[in-house]
Amino acid sequence: MNLTIALLAGDGIGPEVIDQAVKVSDAVSQKFGHNITWKPALMGAVAIDAVGEPYPDETHEICAGSDAVLFGAIGDPRFDNNPSAKVRPEQGLLKMRKALGLFANVRPTFTFPSLVDKSPLKRERIEGTDLIILRELTGGVYFGERGRHNEGNTAFDTMTYHRFEIERLAKKGFEMALKRGKKLCCVDKANVLEASRLWRETVQAMEKDYPEVEVTYEFVDAVAMRLIQWPKGYDVIITANLFGDILTDEASVISGSMGLMPSSSLGESVSLYEPIHGSYPQAAGKDIANPLATVLSAAMLFEDFDLKDEAKAIRDVVNKSLAEGIVTEDLANGAKAYKTSEVGDWLAKNL
Ligand code: IPM
Ligand code: MN
Repeated sequence: MNLTIALLAGDGIGPEVIDQAVKVSDAVSQKFGHNITWKPALMGAVAIDAVGEPYPDETHEICAGSDAVLFGAIGDPRFDNNPSAKVRPEQGLLKMRKALGLFANVRPTFTFPSLVDKSPLKRERIEGTDLIILRELTGGVYFGERGRHNEGNTAFDTMTYHRFEIERLAKKGFEMALKRGKKLCCVDKANVLEASRLWRETVQAMEKDYPEVEVTYEFVDAVAMRLIQWPKGYDVIITANLFGDILTDEASVISGSMGLMPSSSLGESVSLYEPIHGSYPQAAGKDIANPLATVLSAAMLFEDFDLKDEAKAIRDVVNKSLAEGIVTEDLANGAKAYKTSEVGDWLAKNL
């Protein structure tokens, strides 16, 4: 297969972890006889520095014209600590999500046999967790009307949802559940919010089309608790943009390290693959960041192009590296820590 992939390294540790995902993807492509053309483009604070905006038109053209997008990380403390900055890297991320129509953010949570004890949660509660949070990504309070009045002393953001936005996300959720544990949980705040009531109504109306899927409805505050009490109770969770943002950070604790969890954002035509973690600016340029979440994001990419053996080969070699202690300092536990680039080289070689 020939694939053209837009490569957005982004900020902080982005370029370093992206480099390893490229090495591993190229190695797997060589092994299975595929050919990847990488198209680098600017995104985030680096794009602001270079051309004055975080998601330039040229980057959009490259992404829209590719088969997929592989993305590193975004964010730079120079902007975080400056509330009056006119442009911020995160605006580029939101613009990109909207422009590429990336409406379904797939964030899996699973445990690695060799790392269960890295999690602050008890082994018996988390071992064998395998759930997916499907977060709506182009609507809700992130994109609703907002503003200030009363001379700036009153501010508002609105959570707006249209039925079609809920339907298309829920459809993905039902389809995923069918291929997995056949359980779907709609997470909302329907005891308070009208938008959540539309979520429930919409998902309830779809239930009859998926008789094999067991559907439950839970409030987001309760899920925040149950998710870490008994994560094995969940299979596929569908939820609104802001709820999903919060719950996925919480869920990453289950796996023991944010450096491990991959994600995809599915659109109508192009999809994007990125690690869940941020740009970790303190580590930028030091060759110490954990590249595995990005490498596993590349595995999700292969999987979505129906290259299942390729995806499995990547996951297997990642597991092997963990089992053999070829890990960066965050996982080294006092033993030898490998550099980001050394982990990438090892993975590519051992494929
Ligand atoms: C995420 C991030 C973004 C979000 C920020 C950086 C805008 O936290 O991808 O989860 O809130 O969606
Ligand atoms: Mn987030």
